[in-house]
Amino acid sequence: GAPVTADISALAEGQRLILEWRGQPIWIVKRSKAILDALPTLDPHLRDPKSDNKDQQPDYIKGELRSIKPDISVLVGLCTHLGCSPEMKAEIRPEPFDPEWKGGYFCPCHKSRFDMAGRVFQGVPAPINLLVPPHHYENDTTIVIG
Ligand code: FES
Repeated sequence: GAPVTADISALAEGQRLILEWRGQPIWIVKRSKAILDALPTLDPHLRDPKSDNKDQQPDYIKGELRSIKPDISVLVGLCTHLGCSPEMKAEIRPEPFDPEWKGGYFCPCHKSRFDMAGRVFQGVPAPINLLVPPHHYENDTTIVIG
């Protein structure tokens, strides 16, 4: 499939842009400082907090934020369990109640939970983090997926 270009100049904090690339939904989310600060605190509750599994993202995506720019997260919007579409829940706590929940993505099919970097929590069916697709910045506000 051909690369897809996204203009993120109008993307506000907490907003998500949804594109399609190779038949898959691609999410581009602008994260707040509060969300970015919360991410490292979740590490003990995650299956692969440093995203060491190389199948989950391109080589140039490193660390807990899983992004090129700290605030902009780019993910494939498909649950890594059986491919359902997780919901973005920045504020709402999914059941069962989890005091560590600081927002993220919740898959309604079998209750897998991911944080705002797409990192999977322990104790849910999804085996790996949400995938980060290959992408780069053409300029400050233009992302090319693919
Ligand atoms: Fe998402 Fe099963 S498909 S938890």
